[in-house]
Amino acid sequence: KKQVKVGLMGLGTVGTGVLRILEGHQSDLFKQTGLEIVVEKILVQDTSKERNIRINPEWLTTDPYAVLRNPNIDIIIEVMGRTHPTKEYILEALENGKHVVTANKDLVAMHGAEILSKAEEKGCDVFYEASVGGGIPILRALVEGLSSDRIHKMMGIVNGTTNYILTKMSKEGAPYEKVLKEAQELGYAEADPTSDVEGLDAARKMAILSTLGFHVNYHLADVQVRGISKVTAEDIHYGKKLGYEIKLLGIAQNDDGCIEVSVQPTMIHHTHPLASVNGVFNAVYVYGEAVGETMFYGPGAGELPTATAITSDLVTVVKNMKLGVNGRGMVAPYRETILKTSEQ
Ligand code: NDP
Ligand code: HSE
Repeated sequence: KKQVKVGLMGLGTVGTGVLRILEGHQSDLFKQTGLEIVVEKILVQDTSKERNIRINPEWLTTDPYAVLRNPNIDIIIEVMGRTHPTKEYILEALENGKHVVTANKDLVAMHGAEILSKAEEKGCDVFYEASVGGGIPILRALVEGLSSDRIHKMMGIVNGTTNYILTKMSKEGAPYEKVLKEAQELGYAEADPTSDVEGLDAARKMAILSTLGFHVNYHLADVQVRGISKVTAEDIHYGKKLGYEIKLLGIAQNDDGCIEVSVQPTMIHHTHPLASVNGVFNAVYVYGEAVGETMFYGPGAGELPTATAITSDLVTVVKNMKLGVNGRGMVAPYRETILKTSEQ
C-alpha cells in the first residue's frame, strides 16, 4: 500500500486530536485519497512527559530538524503554537519542499504573506482552516463557496474561550476566574490566555477573515481591539434585564473599499441569532451582495473539532499530491499583496 508520511510539530490538545482522527478514521481517509497517511515523527519539548494517548515512543523528538529536514516526510502539521521559533521552522519546512497544514492564527495573521510567498516559490501547499472557527469550515466557505460574491460585512463570535466564560457568567452566575480556569483545563485557551481574554486571538481571526473575505492583506495592527477582562457580573446582569446578552463580537465591514475591523464586548438583543451562540461554540455571519445573509456555526475550539479541520486540510494536500496540483491553496489575497509590493 502506498503511504504519505507526516511530521507533527506539537502533541498538545490539538496534536493529540489529529492522531486520534488519523487512527480512528484511517479507512475513511484511505477511501478518499487511496493512500495510507502515516506519522513519521512528532516534535515536542519534553519526550518524557506523560501523554493521554498511546504512541510509538520512537516518533517523539526534540530535534526540529528530525522533522523539518526528514527526507521521508511529505507534509508537516504545525500545532505547537506561537510565532517564534515556529515561523522559522515553517519556512525551513517549505524550503525543504514540505507541504504545511497549520492551526496557528498568530502565524497566519502576522506572517501569512511571507509564508505563502515562500510556499508559492517552492510549489508547496499551505492550508490553515483550523486557524479560524475551530471545526467550522469558514475559510473554505469564503475562498470557495462565496468566491464569486462581494462580501460587505462579517460579524463573528470567533473565540471559544471568551464565549465559554461569558456564557457561564450569564447562565450560571459563575465567577470569571473560575470559568477561565475551566476553559484552560478543557484545552480551549491559548498557552497564554491573555490573548483570548484581551481580544487579540479574535482580532487575529478577524484579520484573516477580512483578508480572505475582502481580498486585501488586512493588517492585524489595524483591528481595534477590546477584550472581556473588564466585563463584570453586574454588566451581564443588567444587560439581561434589558433583554441583551454580552458577547465578544468581531465586526468587519467593507464600505466601497473602506475597511473597518473591530473586536469588542457587545450587547446583542436576545432575539438575534448570535445571542444564542453559547459555550465554546462560534458563529460567523457573512453578508454578501448577491447571496444575502449567511451564517456558519459550530464548535470553535477543542481537541477533535480543531483536529477535524486540520485533518481535512491534510486530505486536500494528499489529494493535490495525487493530482500534482500542490501550491494552489488559499494564497490568493496574500499573493496579490506580494505581487503589488514586488512591482513597486
Ligand atoms: P498545547 O499547548 O496544548 O500544545 C503545544 C504542543 O507543542 C506541546 O506538545 C508542546 O510540547 C509543543 N511545543 C510547544 N513549543 C514547542 C517548541 N518550541 N519545540 C517543540 N515543541 C513545542 O497547544 P494546543 O494544542 O492547544 O494548540 C496548538 C495550536 O493550535 C496553537 O497555535 C493554537 O492557537 C491552535 N489552536 C488551538 C485550538 C484549541 O482548541 N486548543 C483551536 C484552534 C487552534 P510538550 O507537549 O512537550 O510540552
Ligand atoms: N483559544 C482559542 C479559542 C482556540 O478559545 O477560540 C481556538 O482558536
